[in-house]
Amino acid sequence: MRAVNFCAGPCTLPLSVLEEAQAEFVDYAGTGMALIEMSHRSPEYDLVHNETLDLVRSLFAVPDAFDILLLQGGATLQFAMVPLNLLPDGGSAGYVVSGSWGRAAFKDATHHGDVHNAWDGSESGFTRMPAADEIEIRPEWRYLHVTSNETIAGIRMTEWPDTDVRLVGDMSSDYLSRPIPWERFDVVYGGAQKNLGPAGLAIVFVRRSVLAETNRDLAAYLRWDIHADKNSLYNTPPVFAIYMMGKTLKWIQSQGGLAAMEAAAQARAGLVYEAIDVSDGYYRSPVDPAARSLMNVVFRLPDEDSEARFVAEAKDRQLLSLKGHRSVGGIRASLYNAMPMSGVEALASFMESFR
Ligand SMILES: Cc1ncc(COP(=O)(O)O)c(C=O)c1O
Repeated sequence: MRAVNFCAGPCTLPLSVLEEAQAEFVDYAGTGMALIEMSHRSPEYDLVHNETLDLVRSLFAVPDAFDILLLQGGATLQFAMVPLNLLPDGGSAGYVVSGSWGRAAFKDATHHGDVHNAWDGSESGFTRMPAADEIEIRPEWRYLHVTSNETIAGIRMTEWPDTDVRLVGDMSSDYLSRPIPWERFDVVYGGAQKNLGPAGLAIVFVRRSVLAETNRDLAAYLRWDIHADKNSLYNTPPVFAIYMMGKTLKWIQSQGGLAAMEAAAQARAGLVYEAIDVSDGYYRSPVDPAARSLMNVVFRLPDEDSEARFVAEAKDRQLLSLKGHRSVGGIRASLYNAMPMSGVEALASFMESFR
């Protein structure tokens, strides 16, 4: 029996994608070798690489004005590459510290530029996102950094900051589950290992006009412009992660693309929030209802013993990885693109019977 995997990332992938990869793993396309054994300059890999880039462009509806980069180092390396590329010569920028990930991006950026905390949600325990007029923005900032979905706190930004300052967004945990307002952004980045494929890969979108001005005084790997010039083949790319993401994107396309992913996300999260809301306070969502994440539903039980028992009994039913992040405790159900509705129904019905 296949487990229902609520892990926050890496996470569940479509079964058909895993089976396809398994079937062609040892002998890829009749070449007598696995894709991960062949040159990243081979015609076979070239096809995978470019098909994957084309799928990213069409499914995310990426405007021509943006280049797409497939990079290693996860979203975490972009915490440094954003200021390294955009803030040469002591430029300044603002960061919305909406949760652990916004804080991590801000902290890394302090090493590479004059960066400021534009709003800090730590006082409210990262239970809400700021209203647009709560964010302190200075016109001289090169960019304002936001995190669209805080994976640990279980909150998402529904109102994008309204400002002339260009936005840079970490969208790791809600990639391809909601449209991106491209006109506001200069850079969007995120790891693949939640909504798009396995770990090992970050997808970075950079406005081409910005690439013309990025910092050249950096080691080659850290320069976005070099990766863009080389079509993300400057060095050996993470071929297996890109291949698996390509397959996952084809699956997303077959399901109806972004609109279908968005509708499914609303339906899945809606079911779990409903199970919380009808529980007469047995399950409690600590987050502002307006900021409830559609990807990571966090909730509490009356006490930690009950939470431990909930996780253990869920595990007996093959409902796995429901323990909240170690920094906050509680329960977290991560419901990414490949999570089947049947898995969420099983969770909702378990929540009712456990209560
Ligand atoms: C919102 C967000 N940003 C950044 C990261 C870090 O990503 P990576 O592990 O790909 O470096 C994560 C990881 O969970 C995340 O959820």
